[in-house]
Amino acid sequence: MVLSYMSGFGGSFETEAVPGALPVGQNSPQRTPFGLFAEQLSGSAFTAPRHENRRSWLYRLRPTASHSPFKRYEGGKLICSGPFNDVPPSPNRLRWNPAPIPTEPTDFVDGLVTYAGNGDVSAQAGIGVHLYGANRSMQGRVFCDADGELLIVPQQGALRLATELGRLEIAPGEIAVLPRGVRFGVELDGPARGYVCENYGAPFRLPELGPVGANGLANARDFLHPVAWFEDRDEPIEVVQKFQGGLWTTTLDHSPLDVAAWHGNLAPCKYDLSRFNTINTVSYDHPDPSIFTVLTSPSEVPGVANCDFVIFPPRWMVAEHTFRPPWFHRNIMSEFMGLVHGAYDAKAGGFAPGGASLHNCMASHGPDRESYEKAVAAELAPHKIEDTMAFMFESRWVIRPTRFAAETPLVQLDYDDCWAGFAKARIPAS
Ligand SMILES: [Fe+2]
Repeated sequence: MVLSYMSGFGGSFETEAVPGALPVGQNSPQRTPFGLFAEQLSGSAFTAPRHENRRSWLYRLRPTASHSPFKRYEGGKLICSGPFNDVPPSPNRLRWNPAPIPTEPTDFVDGLVTYAGNGDVSAQAGIGVHLYGANRSMQGRVFCDADGELLIVPQQGALRLATELGRLEIAPGEIAVLPRGVRFGVELDGPARGYVCENYGAPFRLPELGPVGANGLANARDFLHPVAWFEDRDEPIEVVQKFQGGLWTTTLDHSPLDVAAWHGNLAPCKYDLSRFNTINTVSYDHPDPSIFTVLTSPSEVPGVANCDFVIFPPRWMVAEHTFRPPWFHRNIMSEFMGLVHGAYDAKAGGFAPGGASLHNCMASHGPDRESYEKAVAAELAPHKIEDTMAFMFESRWVIRPTRFAAETPLVQLDYDDCWAGFAKARIPAS
């Protein structure tokens, strides 16, 4: 099915699935078209400054207020939230092999496994990093995350997201961002695997461009938002809601995906990472990887992100007299990386699509020995890095692994070896 989208990041949209469903000129008329229920969904405090303020008005068949009490959900045992105190964080670098797709029937919700995170979900600061593996569509239920916005990075298998505000399809190479609290279902065509950044903090937005100018990096017009769509289903539908780290469930007698029209600037969106306008050196040296930031969730300290979503896309390497791969570094920020496809240019092997790595505050990392030796010996002709898409969730706070992530057999116990055996630099005796 070819879906329709509205383009532009952070814009104010209006859309109706039925002509006349959207009230004209006001949000909350005494009598709405068709008797629809008007509901405001707020993604920021009412009094947030205008440029930070995000909200949408939804016009639906029934008010979401009509539901019976939530009860604890028995599944999702591997999902957790900050503060992450399961295991003491170590200064060691971590890398994980890809997790196999589950063999038991598993949908998107039950396939989520928390690997790491930081901050405090109750303070609305920090992130949770989850990986998912699923082999069937969500059937008769929807998910809703009151704890954060969800940035979904598929690695294998397309996802069809049916949300309150409309439908989106994303395939590997694309991402979706779902605002906090939006209810949605996930349908699959086949086995699916990927990564999720659950952002407890300020919503993701486009980074400032500074001297880059008015264009470049991720361009606003390439972010696509769904048009209104609804289903009129009077049958039991479960709502699984994440709240303060726990999963809760209630069952409605109807589908909550019943929004016939909406308007506002708080809505899901998708983005094709191949649209990223990659900017890099045309003279020498490798700029900081912040030049590859797609979206950023700022913290209260200017320039110091709660989370940056950064990609390492296909690009030309033309730097002269320069070590071209990512250099050795120790970073005050903490870095969780994943790989959608291909190979990452700082690693000769071991970092596989669907796998992950974690380099925390001040952990020494950079090219492995093989990549280093190749790069210092390379002929520096223009060279295109192709068929690759690595990414990073980078955060100001240490990203603390969960017990699962620390103890799973997917951990590569020999990761440190990739930096062993460098030939020592020798300064000639004078
Ligand atoms: Fe790094």
